[in-house]
Amino acid sequence: MEKRTNFSSKLGIVLASAGSAVGLGNVWRFPTEVGEGGGAAFILVYILCVVLLGLPLMVAEFIIGRHTHKNTADAYRQLAPRSGWIAQGYIGVFTSWFILCYYSVVAGWTLKYLVEALSGGLGSISDSAAYFKAFSGATWEPLAYMAIVMLMCHLVIIRGVQAGIERSSKLMMPLLLMIIAVLLVFSFSMPGSREGLTFLLKPDLSKLTSSVILSAMGQAFFSLSIAMGCLCTYASYFTDDARLVKTAGSVALIDTVVAVMAGFIMFPAVFSVEAVTPDAGPGLVFITLPHVFRIAFGSVPLVGWFFAVMFYLLLLLAALTSMVSIHEPPTAFLIEHFRLSRPVATTIVTAVCLAVGTLCCLSFGALADCRPLFGLTFFDFFDFVSAKIFLPLGGMIISLFVGWRLDRKIIVGQLTNAGTIRIPAWAVSAFVFLLRWFIPLAMGGIFVKELGII
Ligand code: PFF
Repeated sequence: MEKRTNFSSKLGIVLASAGSAVGLGNVWRFPTEVGEGGGAAFILVYILCVVLLGLPLMVAEFIIGRHTHKNTADAYRQLAPRSGWIAQGYIGVFTSWFILCYYSVVAGWTLKYLVEALSGGLGSISDSAAYFKAFSGATWEPLAYMAIVMLMCHLVIIRGVQAGIERSSKLMMPLLLMIIAVLLVFSFSMPGSREGLTFLLKPDLSKLTSSVILSAMGQAFFSLSIAMGCLCTYASYFTDDARLVKTAGSVALIDTVVAVMAGFIMFPAVFSVEAVTPDAGPGLVFITLPHVFRIAFGSVPLVGWFFAVMFYLLLLLAALTSMVSIHEPPTAFLIEHFRLSRPVATTIVTAVCLAVGTLCCLSFGALADCRPLFGLTFFDFFDFVSAKIFLPLGGMIISLFVGWRLDRKIIVGQLTNAGTIRIPAWAVSAFVFLLRWFIPLAMGGIFVKELGII
């Protein structure tokens, strides 16, 4: 079994954690939710969710991970031996494993679109909706792209914490932030940028229903990678001098800024071409935007090509850094719990993901009518179970665990780095209050909503 290492620097800690948070959820899901949920009003609710719910939960996961320096399953086993809380450790490991299976399918699509953009092929697609349907519904091509992104992720994880996760984050995250800056300039210089911004920022309070507020919460948790075992696993590699609250604050800030900027990039571009209300989910990124790029290709080919290449590269980088963080919890679990070597553990996780990912990938084609579980396709089933059931359930359990069960001395010790940082007593009490009461109730709300009870 390999010797446990830590991240080598505070920058590495922030970039790796931000890499986990910044993903397809920011660039793909957030802008659509803003459009549907009342523009600026949604953004405000979202920011409140990040601050009041996301941040405390992120810190709670950091406390568990850094205090134990163990994989998620063994962390709970150490903190609450022979109790039901141990289940949460396993939920973390398996939720991330499940997520990787379908996340890699969409990551594969982004690679395909990047290749098409690079070759200029995107400019010649006449019907982007039919093109996307034909590609995602095919058998071998989407499978091959999924396998390639899984392999990329595999090659990072197999190198371990410092040479793999940390080094790749230090390379990919600055590149990602630079691409966002370039795309912002491009998008703002497009002719319809004003309408796009109005669409995004017009606060439409009438759309702020309870269901939209619950969606904002769900989006905040998914985007911050909460309750999936990966923040806890990453924190187990944090050094003792890393400041947990500051790190969580930086990660949440980067994640939120990237999400809002993604909206600022996409909507001006979309509205420059035509005043459409963009499709939800995959439609926006894989159907509406290719259409926008094609028109841009037609008018100024080089600009269209550049915009498309940069955009899909951004999406791929975001997806890859998140995939790496989703791969690590099950890998760390196999290494430490079963005393496997890193290469063997990494290979097992990758192989299972490829097998299950194949079912998810074919859910758009050959297996579209195969719905053995709750009438859902494999893709929808894994999405439903992990993001809609385990995520809110896990968040609630973590919150209750740290709020009620964990020794206050451990909490204070971790927040103050064993007394070396001053944190006022009221701030600790407010943190514990949120974990004990506020967050479990909010998570309960999401849970009930996702199950369709309200
Ligand atoms: N936060 C990532 C995103 O916004 O796309 C997704 C994600 C990463 C989910 C890591 C779960 C996870 F463990």
